Amino acid sequence: MWVVTGMVSDEWASAEIDIEQPNSARVYDYFLGGAHNFDVDRQVAEQVLAMYPDARLMAQSNRAFLRRAVRFLIDRGIRQFIDIGSGIPTAGHIHEITQDTVPRACVVYVDIDPVAVAHSEFILAGNVHATVIQEDARRPERIYAHAEVQRLLDLRQPVAVLALAVFHFIAEADDPAGIMARLTQPLATGSYVAVSHITRDGFDDDTQDPFVGSDVDVTPRSREQVEALMGGLQPVEPGVVWVPRWRPASPDDVQYDEPEASGAYAAVGRKAAPTPG
Ligand SMILES: C[S@@+](CC[C@H](N)C(=O)[O-])C[C@H]1O[C@@H](n2cnc3c(N)ncnc32)[C@H](O)[C@@H]1O
Repeated sequence: MWVVTGMVSDEWASAEIDIEQPNSARVYDYFLGGAHNFDVDRQVAEQVLAMYPDARLMAQSNRAFLRRAVRFLIDRGIRQFIDIGSGIPTAGHIHEITQDTVPRACVVYVDIDPVAVAHSEFILAGNVHATVIQEDARRPERIYAHAEVQRLLDLRQPVAVLALAVFHFIAEADDPAGIMARLTQPLATGSYVAVSHITRDGFDDDTQDPFVGSDVDVTPRSREQVEALMGGLQPVEPGVVWVPRWRPASPDDVQYDEPEASGAYAAVGRKAAPTPG
């Protein structure tokens, strides 16, 4: 039996998970300092770090935004969360934050990647307030119709949709603004959407762009494009800003001398009541 940093791998890995193949969700978990990764993932992560030493900081800065956004949303009375493109929910993910302050808060994690979903199922086993489903962000109707969403969430009440570091995997051809509209349409007034999004703003030229030449299919977007994505929502201050600049809770939260080095924007929007007429 192969025991890996607190996990007994063959309890869950035998049927669905190939632990000889690197997986991007586990590589990301390694950047976050999580324990849900294997040698094969760590080797890939170290190769990435050799080329882009900021990769770990970028992931951690994004996850720090997630924590700040969730605490902000809890303070605004939100008790229901859907996290789209959730990856592996470790290293201070939503249910870990809510269990300390609002233990009855409900969380549905959604990811397209069966490996991330299988890890999530293992982590969330026995948790009556959090669940995971395998679905595609590009199909919001299927997410909301899913039995687990129906079971755990009351869509007549405000919900927070988190879509962190996922919309840049949605190509223009898939109509990201239309997907955002379909994601927000069924939500009750007073719901929120939080987004973080990779950008090429701040890169002087293509040679500094970590995605040029990689086989990762990413669509970085400008600040104006991220603002347009959030256009149907009431902006929450400070609007669309570099990830470390979104309501830093302490000076330690701003880990960059130059926040644009974070390579990503963050924003939170609120669904307002429809205007009469
Ligand atoms: C970089 S991770 C972000 C994890 C987490 N949201 C965070 O910000 O810490 C991106 C995740 O999005 C998932 N993903 C990519 N495209 C997706 C899609 N169309 N629908 C749902 N999940 C998707 C990937 O499988 C991956 O787990």
